[in-house]
Amino acid sequence: TPRVFSGIQPSGGLTLGNYLGAIKRFVAMQDDGIETLYCMVDLHAITVPQSPADLRHNTRELAAGYIAAGLDPAKSMLFNQSQVPEHAQLGWIFNCVARMGWMQRMTQWKDKAGKNQQNASLGLFAYPSLMAADILIYHTTHVPVGEDQKQHIELTRDIAAKFNHDYGVDFFPMTEPVIEGSATRVMSLRDGSKKMSKSDPSDMSRINMTDTADDIAKKIRKAKTDPDPLPASLDDLADRPEARNLINIYAALEGSDAQTVLTQFEGQQFGTFKPQLSDLAVAKLGPIGAEMERLMQHTDEIDKILASGAERARAIAEPILAKTYQIVGMVR
Ligand code: TYM
Repeated sequence: TPRVFSGIQPSGGLTLGNYLGAIKRFVAMQDDGIETLYCMVDLHAITVPQSPADLRHNTRELAAGYIAAGLDPAKSMLFNQSQVPEHAQLGWIFNCVARMGWMQRMTQWKDKAGKNQQNASLGLFAYPSLMAADILIYHTTHVPVGEDQKQHIELTRDIAAKFNHDYGVDFFPMTEPVIEGSATRVMSLRDGSKKMSKSDPSDMSRINMTDTADDIAKKIRKAKTDPDPLPASLDDLADRPEARNLINIYAALEGSDAQTVLTQFEGQQFGTFKPQLSDLAVAKLGPIGAEMERLMQHTDEIDKILASGAERARAIAEPILAKTYQIVGMVR
């Protein structure tokens, strides 16, 4: 039976990239009558320094974002990673299965550690091993993510295969990444070659889910573009990354595809297109931001939702960890 898991780091505000690349698609999978688990990966967040107060705030705000965007706690299990200790427990087993060389090849590790790898935390290096545990502790079959997480899911499959091979079992499944739609890689509004990210120093590079209508309009108005009108076909956007990004954002917000958007706006200038993109973005994001703010007035209710999600998730994780320990030879 299909089981869906995904997670987001509570390491800052939620961006339009997180929404279109991940949360909106989490919501779409919830209605297929399949089991869905969505996590705030707080243990991953602390692989780089987080102030405790910010971490608490960001975890709850991310939960509010999940719920405001349409995740229903009655249908999906919503919880924070540290509340289901089996993630960290299986993560340790995987630290002993995965190889240093595998971790060294991860592009996210290389980007985040930068030049001074000796000074990065050990947790940052082992990050993908814990991520594999997040996924495999539920025998997850499908993981909706943005393009940037593809390499980590491939590594998850490598870890599952090596565990199965080393212990001569057919225990962990080969999880499939689900990377689809027109917003699997939303780019910075200031530079079409960089991913939109919560860690970009310029707030003008991204749209945050809690931005006001005025902020959103201003950021789109100032977004980098080129002087040409919009073409009729997608092929003509191949070397116009900023234009392509805005078209993809429009398509993802509207729930259509880039070609449909081009057919609608063919021949128009950005001066005409941008205000329409702003209106669409404000119409779609405004209510979510407002609902997040409302939910954040009731953090005790958020905490209750997460506790109940964690309890349901543990009921799945516990027997899988027990079986793993048995396979590995831990005496009980
Ligand atoms: P994180 O917190 O960086 O991002 C969360 C999700 O948002 C997607 N995303 C984007 N999609 C499109 N365009 C963008 N500009 C953009 N920026 C972010 C990411 O691809 C991701 O799906 N390692 C993960 C968190 C994680 C996880 C897991 C995910 C931990 N354990 C298990 C899935 C399964 C991360 O850092 O995501």
